[in-house]
Amino acid sequence: MTEPILIRIRNALAKVLRPDGRDIVTSGAVQGLTVGEDGRVQFALEINAGEKQEAERLLADAKAAATSIDGIRDVSAVATIHSAAKPQPGGHDNPLGLKRVPAQAPDLLTGVKHVVAIASGKGGVGKSTIAANLAVALAQTGLRTGFLDADVYGPSAPTLFGVSGKADVIDGKIQPVRAHGVSVMSIGFLVDPEQALAWRGPMVTGALRQMMKDVAWGDLDILIVDTPPGTGDAHLSLIQTKRLSGAVIVSTPQEMALADVRRGVELFRKTNIPIIGVIENMAWLDAADGGRSYLFGEGGAQKAAEALGAPFLGAVPLYPELRIASDDGRPLATQDHQGADKFKTFAEAITGFVNR
Ligand SMILES: Nc1ncnc2c1ncn2[C@@H]1O[C@H](COP(=O)(O)OP(=O)(O)OP(=O)(O)O)[C@@H](O)[C@H]1O
Ligand SMILES: [Mg+2]
Repeated sequence: MTEPILIRIRNALAKVLRPDGRDIVTSGAVQGLTVGEDGRVQFALEINAGEKQEAERLLADAKAAATSIDGIRDVSAVATIHSAAKPQPGGHDNPLGLKRVPAQAPDLLTGVKHVVAIASGKGGVGKSTIAANLAVALAQTGLRTGFLDADVYGPSAPTLFGVSGKADVIDGKIQPVRAHGVSVMSIGFLVDPEQALAWRGPMVTGALRQMMKDVAWGDLDILIVDTPPGTGDAHLSLIQTKRLSGAVIVSTPQEMALADVRRGVELFRKTNIPIIGVIENMAWLDAADGGRSYLFGEGGAQKAAEALGAPFLGAVPLYPELRIASDDGRPLATQDHQGADKFKTFAEAITGFVNR
């Protein structure tokens, strides 16, 4: 006979070891373990301040262990860190080991007024570049703005915003990183890139949920979500977890663009998420003689948008300065450049749409 699922989860969790070699179950770190009938697992991981450096690893290992059990659909766990001064639960003054119930996870992104996804049908069209500059431009208008890098396999926010290092975790809440007036979160601030590359679908989905649920986003007017290329799991989990106010589709002008834009538009339409509009990126290159060269054809994304009845927000040409600014972590939107004006215009269009 198979063991009850709770026992199987406990056994799996007991294989995760703390820095001192004790396992997380018998040493009492796992608290409030519950499994819902729908296969959702919840628990808190209570660790000591001295183990803070290891918090992310422990949490990731514990989640991976729980996720590996058949029948488990979703694992949400938080790490809470005890300061050394706090009395540890259990022990002689609490023989029954009664502990405070870990606070229920709040609904996802409750303090965020609007979530806007930036997506595209295919990769490499400049989504992340546009998304980061849009966020900066929105913050410049005085809006409390966040940026969620939902590309777990290929995070670009650390480069685009010029931030390195890891995010702080305080009382089990991941602190967003502030850069250029924006609160930013990326898997790149949480784990080493190779670690995330090894993750399979459920872990990617779990990481995304955590970046929404376990990050101290605070109150935001708008959260820009930079999605991974394509229309895969990440998009679906994003759509399911929080009502999106709308999506912006980025495309290049090629003939192919029509199919790409259609794919992007359809994903959101199917789920009743409004399309704020299409931005055509890498639209042309300003030539030395003052003319324009349309390297990838002319106006394809605009035509595609029209054909699909989606608003066209405008075009961004190829700016060598945009590439350089992005690689340097100094978003073009912060600079005195005509590209910055374009991002301002798009930011206004987005604000107008979500407040309509
Ligand atoms: N308008 C532009 N002018 C010049 N360079 C650009 C422009 N837009 C994007 N780039 C550059 O093109 C490259 C790809 O851009 P980016 O990473 O933003 O694309 P992406 O769509 O997010 O890619 P992925 O699908 O891999 O996430 C980057 O080096 C970026 O700096
Ligand atoms: Mg990207």
